Amino acid sequence: MRLKDKVAVITGAGSGIGRATAELFAAEGAAVLASDLNAGSLEETVVAIRSAGGRIIGVQGNVTLRAEAEAMIDQAIDHYGRIDVLVNNAGAMDYNHGVGSVPDDVWDRMLAVNLTGPMFTSRRAVQCMLTGGGGAIVNVASAAGASGAVAGAAYTSSKHGLIGLTRSTAWMYAQQNIRCNAILPGGVQTSIVSSMDPNKWDAEGTARVGVFHQTMPGILEPIDIALLALFLASDEARQINGALVSADGGWLAN
Ligand SMILES: NC(=O)c1ccc[n+]([C@@H]2O[C@H](COP(=O)([O-])OP(=O)(O)OC[C@H]3O[C@@H](n4cnc5c(N)ncnc54)[C@H](O)[C@@H]3O)[C@@H](O)[C@H]2O)c1
Repeated sequence: MRLKDKVAVITGAGSGIGRATAELFAAEGAAVLASDLNAGSLEETVVAIRSAGGRIIGVQGNVTLRAEAEAMIDQAIDHYGRIDVLVNNAGAMDYNHGVGSVPDDVWDRMLAVNLTGPMFTSRRAVQCMLTGGGGAIVNVASAAGASGAVAGAAYTSSKHGLIGLTRSTAWMYAQQNIRCNAILPGGVQTSIVSSMDPNKWDAEGTARVGVFHQTMPGILEPIDIALLALFLASDEARQINGALVSADGGWLAN
C-alpha cells in the first residue's frame, strides 16, 4: 500500500481524473477527503469507494470560494487529524477564444477555478503541513500549461499560472518537507468537454487549436493520470519537487 495511513484531499473528485484518483488513493490505503462542486457525482464517488472498503468522506464545495476551499482542508483535519496530500484537480475548460475575443466571464471563471481555487486550498494545506511535518501537493495542470496551441487564452493562462504556483510552492517550502509537483495531461477521456455548452465554442480559435489537436498521439484514460498522481504523492517521489510531468502519450514531444 503506497499511501498507507496518509490523509489525502482531492478536489474535483466527482468525475473523471479526480474520481479515478480518489479510487486509486483509497485502494492504496489513504484516508480520502473527496470534494466537488457537484453534490450528486461526489456522492457516487463516495458510495463507490466505501463499498470497495475504502476510507472516504465527501465534502461538497466550490474551490473558487475561499471559505469553501479552506473548509475542504479544515474538514480533513477535523475528521482525520492531519493532511499529507492535496491533489488540486478541480478544473474547467474554456471555449478556445484567442485573446482578441475572449469574454470577460470566461477569463474570470478560468482564473478562478484553475488558479485561485488551487491557491486557496494550497495556502490552507501548507499551513497545516508546516505544523504536521510536511506533505505533498499535486497540481493537475495541462499540456496547456506548457503550450499555447492546446486551448484558448483563458485556459492556457490559468494553467501556465498553476505551473507558476507549483514552482513557487516547491521552492518556498523545500526545506520544510513540503513537495509540490504538476501533472500536464494531454487529452483524457472525461466529461470535461461534453459538459460544456455546445453553442459557446469560438469557431476561429477552435479551428486554430484543432491544428495542434490533430497531432495528438492518442487519448488517455483517467487512471493514467491517477497513477502518476499516486507516484508523486507517495514517498517514492520524496526527492521529486517542482517537477512538471507530462502524461500525454508524447504529444508535447513534437
Ligand atoms: N480531460 C482532459 O483532456 C484534460 C486535459 C488536461 C488537463 N485536464 C485537467 O484535469 C482536471 C480534471 O478534469 P477532468 O477531465 O477529469 O474533468 P471533469 O469535468 O470530468 O472533472 C472535473 C471536476 O471538477 C469539478 N469542478 C469544476 N469546477 C469546480 C469548482 N469551482 N469547485 C469544485 N469542483 C469543481 C467538476 O464538478 C468535475 O467533477 C482539470 O483541472 C482539467 O483542467 C483535463
